[in-house]
Amino acid sequence: MAVPVILDCDPGHDDAFNILLAAAHPAVDLLAITTVAGNQTVEKTTLNARRVCAVAGIEGVPIAAGRSRPLHGAPLVGENIHGGSGLDGPGFGEGEPDVPQDQRDALTLIRDTLLAHPAPVTLVPTGPLTNVATFLLAHPELTHRIERIVLMGGSTGRGNTTPAAEFNILCDPEAADIVFSSGRPVTMFGLNATHQVRATPDVVSRIAALGTPLSRLCVRLLTYFTTAYREVYGLDAPPLHDPLTVAHLIDPSVVSLVRAAVTVELAGTYTRGATVVDLDGVTGRPANAEVGMEVDVPAFWDLIVEAVRVLGARTDRTPSAS
Ligand code: RIB
Ligand code: CA
Repeated sequence: MAVPVILDCDPGHDDAFNILLAAAHPAVDLLAITTVAGNQTVEKTTLNARRVCAVAGIEGVPIAAGRSRPLHGAPLVGENIHGGSGLDGPGFGEGEPDVPQDQRDALTLIRDTLLAHPAPVTLVPTGPLTNVATFLLAHPELTHRIERIVLMGGSTGRGNTTPAAEFNILCDPEAADIVFSSGRPVTMFGLNATHQVRATPDVVSRIAALGTPLSRLCVRLLTYFTTAYREVYGLDAPPLHDPLTVAHLIDPSVVSLVRAAVTVELAGTYTRGATVVDLDGVTGRPANAEVGMEVDVPAFWDLIVEAVRVLGARTDRTPSAS
């Protein structure tokens, strides 16, 4: 039985691959995509979600824009990694993508999707948690229709935007606190796990070898992402963070999990936005999340490459492809 999913994202290079993975794999029923400000403004992340769906031939999945700023404070932007468009690297052209933007806002689309689906739905946020937190506050009567929340964010160790805080959580710590305190089952894939899945030259070569327009676009995305991570962090290969979420839904054996109490630092002068993960149970706080730890890296990349292959084959109009 396919897992019904709503992706809430800020495309974003790694968000883009998560959309491809969710759309391609039969174990996932991608019901809707909502967007949030994060890597770029919500206008740009929404356009990027539409662009990804258009180039990958993903049809019939409504895309709605969400919050443009966090619950408190000013928005951060991840331009240093994702570029001015939020999805720099490939040229998508100036025109509007063939995939429309839903006229509802993100919260309305989430509400309508939960009400319409016969079973509880899994929320998969891979950007700041503003939309999800706002929805939980606005619709307590619908939380039972949320099966679980499987998110990319935080870390059991150091951050990537401050020494203590990971970008998605730091963008909106109050929203993250609401999500981790919601009582809904939360599975967190933080930097400690996502930095195990580096898009190495071998991975890029496997995708390039698929030889389709979509695979070539994915190579351009990864090439840009690689350059950005090398320049900003001195890494030789970029971690492809977000698709660990959907990979987990497809095959839970891809990432080991431990249960732990996760709290979000809201007040720390130097640590605001940190996820404090009590792996050793020293605080006595009850565990409120499953936390991703060890990744089966080859299995992860096999899922990514297969998703690009499947969608690339469907959309390849090259005469020799027929
Ligand atoms: O810190 C990594 C996270 O921040 C990823 O989700 C990336 O897309 C950015 O949103
Ligand atoms: Ca993201």
